[in-house]
Amino acid sequence: MESALFLRNLWYFALHGNKLKKGKLLQRTILGQKVVLGRDRAGKAFALRDNCPHRGVPLSEGVFDGETIACCYHGWQFNCSGVCQKIPALADAMAQLHKIRVFAYPCEEVSGTIWVYMPQNPEKPLGVVPPPPDLLIPANKQFLHVEQSLLDGNIDHATIGLIDPAHVTFVHQSWFWRSRNSAKLKEKNFEPVGIGFRMKRHQPSSAASGKGYRLLGGAISTEITFQLPGHRLEHIQIGERDFIVSLTLLTPIDEKTTELNHIFYSSLGWMKYIWWPLVHLGRTFICQDVKVFRKLQKGLESDPKLMLMGDPDAQARWYYELKRHWSQAQETNTPFSNPIAPATLRWVT
Ligand code: FES
Ligand SMILES: [Fe+2]
Repeated sequence: MESALFLRNLWYFALHGNKLKKGKLLQRTILGQKVVLGRDRAGKAFALRDNCPHRGVPLSEGVFDGETIACCYHGWQFNCSGVCQKIPALADAMAQLHKIRVFAYPCEEVSGTIWVYMPQNPEKPLGVVPPPPDLLIPANKQFLHVEQSLLDGNIDHATIGLIDPAHVTFVHQSWFWRSRNSAKLKEKNFEPVGIGFRMKRHQPSSAASGKGYRLLGGAISTEITFQLPGHRLEHIQIGERDFIVSLTLLTPIDEKTTELNHIFYSSLGWMKYIWWPLVHLGRTFICQDVKVFRKLQKGLESDPKLMLMGDPDAQARWYYELKRHWSQAQETNTPFSNPIAPATLRWVT
């Protein structure tokens, strides 16, 4: 069975929490669906389908007082859970008003980041919604937002770009980081985890990334986890107590565009002093990806046949495999079982 482009019954990163101000409404497109996001008076984030049930006008065009959204067309009012509160033009009060509802997506804020759950079938009762992803930092800590960029290309190409080691040598070269000539044979151990796989904890290789990590001092090890639908979580342990978490999160906007967000957390207080150089470094990397994606899209216009070759593309094959299993489990309403077997992959980068 071929899996659909978009996976459902999963949480998607919507935006960094500091972009969602109290009393404001924001429209986002996720998996091609228009969603209106806001925060109620208590600061709790919510997400509703961005169409008024009356005649479909976007609710994000309405007036929001922190409690009620009034549609801009005929003034129907909805609370933050999407339940209709008032139809101003009706002369007689309507008993069944609460039966008029806007679909409310499960929405959670995790360490300052806002997530929306995209169900398989919004027409049916939701059933049990799993908790949003574990972002590897204590619940009372907040991520900083590094970068948001739009990639030309669908979620599959964007994800493969995220987990593909071989492009690094050619796309992410720079004088302070690495050059083509510093490529070495790497051997990494992988294991299945959750709805993805993990590159097991290891010392970063000295030639390339080691350069950056060495600046931090202390014994350093890193672990990189990939989870559906397109989340790369890197956890860098520094000495006994400190750590850095760097997350790259892909959200499909529609069939041709994918949003990439990079968020970051460090337990090292002094890192805030080098925050801007760090952001710059992150942006440089992402810009390099954005550029190569534009070129890739030009190539894909003629619909060429593509290949996945050997160990460097093994993670891409796993991604498709995971997707297939996930889709199948959702469609047949059966438990997902992770198809990945532990493996050692070798490549030259
Ligand atoms: S379209 Fe929203 S109230 Fe009529
Ligand atoms: Fe890249």
